[in-house]
Amino acid sequence: MKENMKENMNHVSPNPSEANKNSTLLVYVNGTWLPKQEAKVSIWDHGFLYGDGIFEGIRVYKGYVFKLKEHLNRLYASAAAIDLTIPHSPDEMEDLIIETVRKNGLKESYIRLVISRGAGDLGIDPRKCKEPTVMILADKINLYPEELYKTGIKVMIASTRRNPPDSLNGRIKSLNYLNNILAKLEHIRAGLDEAIMLNHEGYVVEGTAENVFVVKDRKLLTPPCYLGALEGITRGVVMGLAAEIGFRAEEALLNSYDLYTCSELFLTGTGAEIIPVVEVDGRKIGNGAPGQTTLQILKTYRDYAARYQETPVYPDKKVGVG
Ligand SMILES: Cc1ncc(COP(=O)(O)O)c(C=O)c1O
Repeated sequence: MKENMKENMNHVSPNPSEANKNSTLLVYVNGTWLPKQEAKVSIWDHGFLYGDGIFEGIRVYKGYVFKLKEHLNRLYASAAAIDLTIPHSPDEMEDLIIETVRKNGLKESYIRLVISRGAGDLGIDPRKCKEPTVMILADKINLYPEELYKTGIKVMIASTRRNPPDSLNGRIKSLNYLNNILAKLEHIRAGLDEAIMLNHEGYVVEGTAENVFVVKDRKLLTPPCYLGALEGITRGVVMGLAAEIGFRAEEALLNSYDLYTCSELFLTGTGAEIIPVVEVDGRKIGNGAPGQTTLQILKTYRDYAARYQETPVYPDKKVGVG
């Protein structure tokens, strides 16, 4: 792999396994917590063979799981959409997630929760998979370099179009990320930080792993999820916080023209939080530096996450460990 490809891959996704190389990370797999070297799933698992499954990526801030209920709602909605029965109630899942973070003694963490169709045979028939696989991993979070929040990122519009929702709806957080990965390969090859994906009619849908917002006339505009974008938890929080800084947040159909001509542009996601975009397809956004509104939203979001105390990992302690 070329050096610039490696570099570009480094800061685009949280890499929990790197962060915790030397410790004895405990991973939940199908009913037991195992040291990470022993945490394995079958090669017959249809999650591995066909991407048949769903997942969630969740943050822990200061010993509190951020927006766990919202993530679980989305998880169960994704499961319903692919006709997969999760073998635990939402309350049980909540306990398993919290226990996984607690067992690893983490206060700042990234949780990856995967439910796959389970082990079957070589055909794609899901009926052959008798038991879903449930995996929960909580690790230290490898954050995007803080520098990127000061300089902003450069993006391109990918030629790969987002899956049409009547084929594979992007609202399902499924294990099928090949559509997004094809767009990611484009921006890596171009030496850029991220790609924004359009649908077949040229409307902006989302980034490869983030939602998109433009700032225009004291409004925060983001594409509607019916276009096939994931209903991002961070997107929802940002829309809720907009009024706090005197902005209206609205869904709107946006095309490449709107991206090229907006005064500010930013992406949102659990890992990235709010990341400013300063260039699209070689066109400077605003004056080419992160805009004031974006920075205000980033600060408001981080303050909100730091104050958020709905789901404590360590309810008996005032200050968590880790
Ligand atoms: C395709 C896609 N869109 C948007 C997002 C942002 O969603 P959230 O804010 O829930 O992390 C993600 C995050 O994983 C994603 O994979």
